[in-house]
Amino acid sequence: MTDGRIEKVRLGTDGPEVGVQGLGCMGMSFAYGPADAGESRATLERALELGITLYDTADAYGAGENERFLSPFFKAHRDEVVVATKFALSIPPDDPTKRIIRNDPPYIRQAVEASLKRLDVDVIDLYYMHRRDVAVPIEETVGTMAELVREGKVKHLGLSEVTADELRAAAAVHPIAAVQSEWSLFSRDIEAKVVPAARDLGVALVPYSPLGRGFLTGSFVNAEKDLTDGDFRRQQPRFTGENARANAALLAPVRTVAEARGVSLGQVALAWAQQRAAVHGLPVVPIPGTRKPGRVAENAAATRIVLTEEELALLEPVAAKVAGDRYPDMAFTSAGRE
Ligand SMILES: NC(=O)c1ccc[n+]([C@@H]2O[C@H](COP(=O)([O-])OP(=O)(O)OC[C@H]3O[C@@H](n4cnc5c(N)ncnc54)[C@H](OP(=O)(O)O)[C@@H]3O)[C@@H](O)[C@H]2O)c1
Repeated sequence: MTDGRIEKVRLGTDGPEVGVQGLGCMGMSFAYGPADAGESRATLERALELGITLYDTADAYGAGENERFLSPFFKAHRDEVVVATKFALSIPPDDPTKRIIRNDPPYIRQAVEASLKRLDVDVIDLYYMHRRDVAVPIEETVGTMAELVREGKVKHLGLSEVTADELRAAAAVHPIAAVQSEWSLFSRDIEAKVVPAARDLGVALVPYSPLGRGFLTGSFVNAEKDLTDGDFRRQQPRFTGENARANAALLAPVRTVAEARGVSLGQVALAWAQQRAAVHGLPVVPIPGTRKPGRVAENAAATRIVLTEEELALLEPVAAKVAGDRYPDMAFTSAGRE
């Protein structure tokens, strides 16, 4: 940090320059129980003061509601923020357990127009394919995304939860600025193939859920007991029943590191995610999600923490011991197809 603001990094070879930590905005409208709109707006403003410039949303978050919610903030700070949104996934409001995935060109064209309108911007800075529909060749999907760049509707392209092969095929069609995938102390499957491919191709990694959806902060253990009805985490195998209890015990080394340094568990988890950049040799911009100004400051401060080799060694075995998959259906992830 210089002048209290976080450092900057370029997303991929030709991507935008952003603060080295972004902000996940999903929870402001979707998935993690009730949100206070005023507090969420204050969080966005606080994030910008701290040098956080990459703001992550998707058309799927609350069926467009999250994009609409962010629109006034983006409009007020258009030149300072990098607007990242996604297409491909829809979650019917009347059945939140259902997922519809589409990657076909007519759908993409319809989705980008709808996002531009909801966000009320002329151009989307970073446009991600949110999930892969294997029925459509990736070259066709990225070909259409590249047309959107040429037409000035989108500046840079990203892909979420793609395999290494899908990433290579996509990058042969158009430069990819970033791959967004789950990556945390608890979820390291992408390190085997996706991360080395991204490094070779000059693509940045944007880890989502770097706090393990809040579990790594120690703020809840059993989602069914500790979280409100309708919270998405109540459907996730890792946070329920016997798995939740076993996984909570895995936080012991995170707590040891945190207590010795006088920092929070979440800060250790974020410092670990940030340090993947040095370990794997590529730009890494985690996007922790929060709706609280105090927490965004705490999270940004973690960009200043550099874990020692001893601390990293203590944290190294954790992921391999995690009980339960990160989604009920792993075909929804790159690891499930790799
Ligand atoms: N590409 C994809 O498929 C995909 C999937 C999931 C998420 N995402 C994106 O990634 C972003 C981040 O992931 P995520 O929100 O799932 O998980 P996360 O960042 O790992 O964790 C978010 C949770 O942690 C809590 N939290 C944040 N900072 C905290 C702190 N300092 N102390 C205690 N608790 C804290 C938040 O609660 P409060 O909000 O109440 O602070 C929230 O419940 C999302 O917002 C979304 O934009 C993308």
